[in-house]
Parts: sequence; structure tokens; C-alpha cells
Amino acid sequence: MIRLFTQMRLIFIAMVMLLSLSACENSAGNMHTVPAEEQKADESAVPDSDTDQDKIKIAFAMDTLLEERWPRDRDLFREAVEALGAEVEIMAASGDDALQITQMERMISSGIDVLVVVPHNAEATATIVNMAHSAGIKVIAYDRLIRNAEIDLYVSFDNERVGELQAEAMQKQVPSGSYVYIGGAETDYNAHQFKQGVFNVLQPLIDRGDIRIVFDQWSQDWTPASARANMEAAFQANGDQIDAVISANDATAGGVIEALEARGLAGKIPVAGQDADLAAVQRIVEGTQMMTVYKPIHLLAEEAAELALKLAMGEPVVADQKINNGKIEVPSVLLTPIAVDRHNVMDTIIADGFHTEEEVYRNTEK
Ligand code: GAL
Repeated sequence: MIRLFTQMRLIFIAMVMLLSLSACENSAGNMHTVPAEEQKADESAVPDSDTDQDKIKIAFAMDTLLEERWPRDRDLFREAVEALGAEVEIMAASGDDALQITQMERMISSGIDVLVVVPHNAEATATIVNMAHSAGIKVIAYDRLIRNAEIDLYVSFDNERVGELQAEAMQKQVPSGSYVYIGGAETDYNAHQFKQGVFNVLQPLIDRGDIRIVFDQWSQDWTPASARANMEAAFQANGDQIDAVISANDATAGGVIEALEARGLAGKIPVAGQDADLAAVQRIVEGTQMMTVYKPIHLLAEEAAELALKLAMGEPVVADQKINNGKIEVPSVLLTPIAVDRHNVMDTIIADGFHTEEEVYRNTEK
């Protein structure tokens, strides 16, 4: 009798151990097989009641988490969607078009309600829009436009205004002389809009002969290394006869300033950037970068989350601006970017808590 009881107890313990082993494996196993950035935000949230099943599910397909802003976009978007009572699934494709398409196909087949996309390649991403629509899923382009596709909404900042703010600040500082333009990634339609904004302001000065563009090049995948190589090529072609550099974002501006430092010209040639990366704001208060364009990302993430929920629930959305993406006039919400130099860092970036005063003024007096 006792023996039988011991045997049964042993069987029972074995069963408990087996069960816990399988739970661990699932989460651990999946994590190992799925690359880090492809994490499903809700992997551990096993739906245990109907309500989870009925929850609206938003997918956020990101290009990359490389530049400083994108992890912030990811976290703020997740918070905003979850605060609205919905679920969010997030994947990032490390700048790989094929991987981004595969990730979006997987999201579409996992039963999402709305697909929100930061495309790596504005044109290549168009293919996925039809697939989503045939599955009854609406598509929102986040920050970057998807070209030549019938997307449902575009939510971003006014990207041409970003370029205009950069050029307005620079032409005040350098009203005449030789300018270098370091562009962003050619695959990113934003880079084209930023550049258009810069030339909206500079073209009249170029036509008048006040300003000459002595170098103008895209930077592969927005990398600082590509921007640095471009700046070195600009020096090769023009010697030190360069009076101003407008760089499409702060990551590329960082590469440009490395090239200036190598020639002892950092702080001597004004450089404009974008994104209010911490390193850039530190450079601005320390004098090696002239300005950046601050984009309050929390407003973008919250706006996109609200619009995604509305689309999922079939509610009307207010998107009164239109952007032509080569196929349709896309209903758009374009937020206002803010020019920042050392005079208004406190009232903008620090006032918003985007960076702290301690972080920014680590080496300098306010
Ligand atoms: C752009 C974005 C910028 C910049 C860049 C590099 O599309 O608008 O803020 O970060 O991508 O990722």
C-alpha cells in the first residue's frame, strides 16, 4: 500500500516538473529562435479569457532601432496603445527590406486589426499594403511615407518644414558662402522631403549667387560612417573652403563633426542636424553643432495610437492634410517640428523632459 502511494506521489511530482519545463521552453525557446528585435511585446501574455481574444490588436512594424529616437518611438507607441486598452505587437527589421516584408506577412497572418509601419524602403513596402487590405487590415504609415500604395493614413511631422528650419537657421548664421548638404538615406522618402525643405529656403540665395552648394550626397542607411565619408569627400573636392554644413539628422551630423574634428574645424564650421539626439544637444551647448530640429515624439506616438484604434473600430478619423505618395492623396496628420539652438534648449527639449538638464549640461554651464 505505502509503496503504491510513494509511486503515485513520484509520478505526480514528475508530472509537475514536466509541465513547468514546457512553459519555460516556450518563452525561452521562442526568444532564442526569434531575433531580439522581433520580440512580440505580449509574448508572455497568454490570453486567458475571451476579453483578451476580443482585444484590438495593433502591429507596429519598425525599420530599425539603431538611431536614438526609435526605441523611444517603440516604447511610447506601446504605452499609448496599451493605455487605450488594446494589444500591440512590435517587430524591427534592422534595415532589411526582405525581413521587414516577412515580419509584416507574419503579423498580417497573426490576426491583427491595424498595421502601423515605419518603412525601411518607401517603395519596396508598397507590396504589403494590398496583402493587408485583402485581409481587411488598414495600414498607417508612421513618420515615413509608403510610396505608390493606397495606404489609409500617414502620421508624421511636417518633414519639409524640418528642412526649412535647418536652412533658415543656417542662412542667418552664414548668409553667403559655400554650403555642403549631407542627405539621409535615399530609400527613405523623408530624406527627400527634408532636402526639399532645405532647398525651398536656399534656392533663391543660390539663384542670387550668395550661396554655392559645393557638395550634396545621400548617406547610406543614415549611418554616421557614410556621412563622415561624404564630408571627407567634400573636403577632398573643396579643401577647407566650406562655410556651412546641413546634415539631414543628428546621427549623420555626428559623422560630419568627426570629419571636422580630424581637421581641427569642429566649432568653426556651423553644422545643422535633426532629432535632438542627446549627443547632438550636448554638442550644441558645447559649441560644435549649431542647431537641431526637435520633434516631440510622444505627440506622434499618441496620435498614431489613437488613429490606429479609431481605424480598428471603424470610427471616422480627422486627417485633414493630404500628401501625394505617387498613387493617392494620402489623408495625413503632420505635426510641427521645432528648431533648437543653445538659446532655447531649456524651454523646449528639457522643458518636455526629452533629456534632463544634467545629461545635456554635463560639461558646461547653462
Ligand atoms: C527619418 C526620421 C528621422 C531620422 C531618420 C533616421 O525617417 O524622420 O527622425 O531619425 O529617419 O532613422
